[in-house]
Amino acid sequence: MQSGVPTATTSGSTPVANAAPSAPSKPPQRIGVTREIFPGEKRVATVPEVVEKLIKLGFTVSVETGAGDAANFSDETYVAAGAQIVDSAAKVWAESDIVFKVCVPTNAEVDMMREGGILIGFIWPAQNPELMQQLTAKKATVLAIDSLPRMLSRAQKMDALTSQAGVAGYRAVVEAANAFGRFFAGQITAAGKVQPAKVFIAGAGVAGLAAIGTAVGLGAIVRANDTRAEVADQVISMGGEFVKVDFEEEGGGGGGYAKVMSEGFQQAQRDMYAKQAREVDIIITTALIPGKPAPRLITAEMVKSMKPGSVIVDMAAERGGNCELTVPGEAVVRHGVTIVGYTDLASRLAKQSSTLYATNLFRLAEELCKTKDGVVNVNMEDEAIRGLTVTKEGSITWPPPAPKQAAAAPAAAKPAAAPAAKKGGHGHGGDTEPMAGSKLAIMFGVAAALFWLIGANAPKEFLSHFTVFVLACFVGYMVVWNVKPALHTPLMSVTNAISSIIAIGALVQISPIVGAASRPDSLITWVAGAGIVLTAINMFGGFAVTQRMLAMFRK
Ligand code: NAI
Repeated sequence: MQSGVPTATTSGSTPVANAAPSAPSKPPQRIGVTREIFPGEKRVATVPEVVEKLIKLGFTVSVETGAGDAANFSDETYVAAGAQIVDSAAKVWAESDIVFKVCVPTNAEVDMMREGGILIGFIWPAQNPELMQQLTAKKATVLAIDSLPRMLSRAQKMDALTSQAGVAGYRAVVEAANAFGRFFAGQITAAGKVQPAKVFIAGAGVAGLAAIGTAVGLGAIVRANDTRAEVADQVISMGGEFVKVDFEEEGGGGGGYAKVMSEGFQQAQRDMYAKQAREVDIIITTALIPGKPAPRLITAEMVKSMKPGSVIVDMAAERGGNCELTVPGEAVVRHGVTIVGYTDLASRLAKQSSTLYATNLFRLAEELCKTKDGVVNVNMEDEAIRGLTVTKEGSITWPPPAPKQAAAAPAAAKPAAAPAAKKGGHGHGGDTEPMAGSKLAIMFGVAAALFWLIGANAPKEFLSHFTVFVLACFVGYMVVWNVKPALHTPLMSVTNAISSIIAIGALVQISPIVGAASRPDSLITWVAGAGIVLTAINMFGGFAVTQRMLAMFRK
């Protein structure tokens, strides 16, 4: 609905005589935000501070009255940010070009949606086939935030699963502290010595790492276990201790997710968990294998063996629970142990989780509206947008084709064609097309002939520099392409800064004229001068980007 919205066609530049008439630009689109109606849900899909940014992108924003109340954002704050308050959900759905939501929409909500509209929020297309049919009947374009290709480093700013799991991990520790009758930190007081609480975290993914950081911050002794060996360093960097299972088996199933482990591993893991259950005061379980029920890690026997007053927070409650005695959505006491099975942990910190979620959606809006004119372009050529788009103008586009940039997927997780691809590939995840042998031979032949030509005709000094240049290109290529794409940005920023050593070469070339009265008239001097300018950009830019990245990990 664009009523009351100034159209871009009439505003702006004065027509230029004889200029070819340009295509009329589209009017800005309206983003609508409804109140979440899922029982107990307190989050809201956008917050006032993000409304301002959406308006700067060219959109107009409507918010259903009371949509932000449960997250402590009043109608007045939305109005102050430039949004219009609308008195009913039906109006928001019918009048908005794009609807932002948190929870999966109900059938009644989709009924209110305008035909051909755009919907952005959690959809879980695999679990909701009927909803997908209903959305296609509406000719809707749906961007499911849960379907974001998480391994693309560019997509991290839009990753709502991560932002929400981080909040939930924090809240899990707060819930544990609430149910636990003691301090987390050890203390020596006049009344006696207090032992620090011992916390064990099962599963060190996004939520698990957030829980480790929070529990360490409160002063507890924190241990953690995960089936993926690669997370051990992350656990240690968060201040925890990684507890290994006494059984050699790699748990990575591709894309940073786990796989179902062998029976032998599971037995060894149960033995280790049983030992931890006897020793620790708090267990927080976050173990998840996508598309599978939650692995059962904590048995009733283990609960029985815990000290009275201990606490278990089972974050996987919604998927059946990591603990045998969990009751989803409730906190219960079994064998003297409080077992918290809340499934709405992120919603319990609604102001924080809404703000992060709104920022994720804003980053997505930026990607969809690069022209900053308030009109989205669902570009199916963009890998991140393609992955998110589960229906486009009424056609189901889910599941998306396999991502080109499978950053962390091991060779075992590749399709059957992978072994052939590996031979001709260059270590870039093995996902490039195999190069035909004859093509490779021709390329080598051409390169050899070129080198021979250069070697036969170029001056001696040039040749030694050229050899170093070719070797540097080769080593650089091998180093960068053997690093996971997700790590390219930090790697490049710091190597950029270091590679600025070429400034010394440029300075050596320019030095004869510095201080001398001679004019900088040779070509080499000018090239060296340009080299210093470009290197300075490289140097300072590289360190600035590295600093920004490091700042993300500092408190
Ligand atoms: P994630 O995929 O980032 O982490 C799960 C971790 O569990 C992975 O590191 C994986 O390697 C590990 N894992 C899998 N099987 C294991 C096993 N048998 N033993 C030990 N570790 C194992 O997932 P994320 O985002 O951290 O979420 C964790 C859980 O929290 C999920 O079940 C998710 O649904 C749930 N969650 C619950 C919320 C709530 O309100 N209760 C809110 C947000 C997330």
